[in-house]
Amino acid sequence: MKIETLRWTENKLEMIDQRILPASFEYIPYKSAAAVAEGIRTMVVRGAPAIGVAAAYGVALEALRLSSALREAPDLRERFDTGMETGFTVLAASRPTAVNLFWALKRMRAVWEGVKDQDAAAIAQRLLAEAHEILAEDIRINRAMGAHGAALLPDGARVLTHCNAGALATAGWGTALGVFRSAVEAGKKISVIADETRPFLQGARLTAWEMVQENIPVTLITDNMAGYMMARGEVDAVVVGTDRVAANGDVANKIGTYMVAALAQRHNIPFYVACPLSTIDMSIATGKDIPIEERSADEVKGFRDCQWAAEGVQIRNPSFDVTPAELVTAIITEKGVVREPSVEKLRALFE
Ligand code: MRU
Repeated sequence: MKIETLRWTENKLEMIDQRILPASFEYIPYKSAAAVAEGIRTMVVRGAPAIGVAAAYGVALEALRLSSALREAPDLRERFDTGMETGFTVLAASRPTAVNLFWALKRMRAVWEGVKDQDAAAIAQRLLAEAHEILAEDIRINRAMGAHGAALLPDGARVLTHCNAGALATAGWGTALGVFRSAVEAGKKISVIADETRPFLQGARLTAWEMVQENIPVTLITDNMAGYMMARGEVDAVVVGTDRVAANGDVANKIGTYMVAALAQRHNIPFYVACPLSTIDMSIATGKDIPIEERSADEVKGFRDCQWAAEGVQIRNPSFDVTPAELVTAIITEKGVVREPSVEKLRALFE
């Protein structure tokens, strides 16, 4: 089954509502930057590359919206420019950790600046073409990454993953789950162990769903079972995605990833991180400088309408953690596999 996390139909962006998966499968339509920003903030769309693609469309939608308003008042061109600035600002404030958001906004801004002297309708069409290109490129990159990553997995491997770094977290195919898809495509028999991923349950709801759709054998465990499985020799490799890699190779990913990486090292299990170059932030020296999103206490108190935590208890909800580079066996990118990542090796990827 081809999962279209984001799609462009009849002058609007549609995104799968990931909050209600797997019970329901529905698309929500979007027509402005503010609406897309809200979709990112509330996690209708999530996962670093998918957030980047959504933001690119957010910019294009804003240009389309403002340019059609301008048709009624062509003398107010500066309204278009200030409206676009507001669109960029609102999108940039939606979520802080995934660098793909800022990468996509920077790329869209460069395109905008290149055509700023054209009329608003032409600018909007150019920005829309760029958003389409970012989406198509993301799928191509995931395929390339998948091929590099698949070569690392032995036939019959039992691979543990955390959160959802699949088609739903990208424009399609996925990063970590893209590696699994590519391994299966190459004829390897692999099976997946999906961490449930408290508190938002991306593993139980999204990874398990994607793997079931794909007929890739998948076993769901709660996060606190990973050590038991590794100690029993039931895990051959770990593959996860990431929201931002610092220049020294430290990796920010969904909360709980660090725990998995530390356990993997303890049990001599390779810990791989799959990500496009757009997730590597060479402007940030180490993981200490990566902004970590703190989300609502409600996500920890319970799930949807069911609350299990004692009323009045204090709650923390950091949404990501940082795995130090020394625990990362290799980073899998579209340009190849970087073993024992370091600033020199990561810098070379951009040369
Ligand atoms: O909070 P989320 O669901 O956006 O977090 C997603 C993750 O942590 C993913 O593992 C990461 O973005 C990589 S997605 C290819």
